[in-house]
Amino acid sequence: MGRRPFIIDCDTGTDDAIAIMAALYCDEVEVKAITSVNGNVAHQYTSKNNLDLMEYLGFMDIPVAKGAVHPIMANGYHAHGTHGSTGLGTISLPEAKDKKFDKRIASELIYETAVEEQGELELLVVGPMTNIAISLLQHPELTGLIKHIWFMGGSAIGGNVTPTAEFNIWIDPMAAHIVTQSGIPQTMVGLDVTTAAAMKECHSAELRTCGTKASVLCADLLDYMFIRRDKGGEDALMHDAMAFAAAVYPECLELKDCYIDVECFGEYTKGHTYVDKKGKSKKEPNASVALKVDEEKFCRWLTDAIKKSAG
Ligand code: RIB
Ligand code: CA
Repeated sequence: MGRRPFIIDCDTGTDDAIAIMAALYCDEVEVKAITSVNGNVAHQYTSKNNLDLMEYLGFMDIPVAKGAVHPIMANGYHAHGTHGSTGLGTISLPEAKDKKFDKRIASELIYETAVEEQGELELLVVGPMTNIAISLLQHPELTGLIKHIWFMGGSAIGGNVTPTAEFNIWIDPMAAHIVTQSGIPQTMVGLDVTTAAAMKECHSAELRTCGTKASVLCADLLDYMFIRRDKGGEDALMHDAMAFAAAVYPECLELKDCYIDVECFGEYTKGHTYVDKKGKSKKEPNASVALKVDEEKFCRWLTDAIKKSAG
């Protein structure tokens, strides 16, 4: 069986960068493109981070495209406290010199690739879902061309940006509503599991010893997160890499088919993910939802995934 074609749509972001690296060195998948969206930081930075990262790691042939600069339904706030002003914490990658952005905007690149892959394309969506929603609105037939969406977003346990909403969903709840209701097979990896697994200093040390560009960069990102944690900020949580784990290492997760939707309005509930774990809505499940994670298994898998950059 050939490698599974993936597009990674992201708001790079410290944990987005680690998820991208885990995918790039995974034998099972072929990354067909990286598309950026406004989210953790402004689109200028999320797109630049993707281009710089791909040139830095030598992936000159994988298209990198710019995406939506604004949510469909605006909730405006960047996560500078978590990802720093540029999105990669205190890390500065060498500016891309030779690699250029693809001429297509994200929503068009996603559609064209989906057509080329004849229904086999999978999406790893680890930022606000604006690009996916725009592509669906422009090309309704896309629902029959996407094999699976693996997304980091939402939660059944409450939020991280408001008491009820997780960041990726909250930034663009309308986009998330469009995607979750699209009928495309999808897996939701939310805060229920991503807040239950944190990388440790031992993982960073192992990656630094591995000595590849990717493993050292990952160690630098983790070390930035440890400093952030020790100052009272977010732990070294691998939100986005865990969505990729759902696609290629589901053994580390417990998943349940549930009906999900997104609250788009409501003074206190805008961006809330409605996760019907007990079937109370009587609606057919439209997603597989990750409810538990084996922290040790996941962190071991991610460390090994990045070490695959050593060949
Ligand atoms: O809530 C966590 C999510 O928001 C992650 O995708 C992180 O990168 C940020 O985008
Ligand atoms: Ca992200």
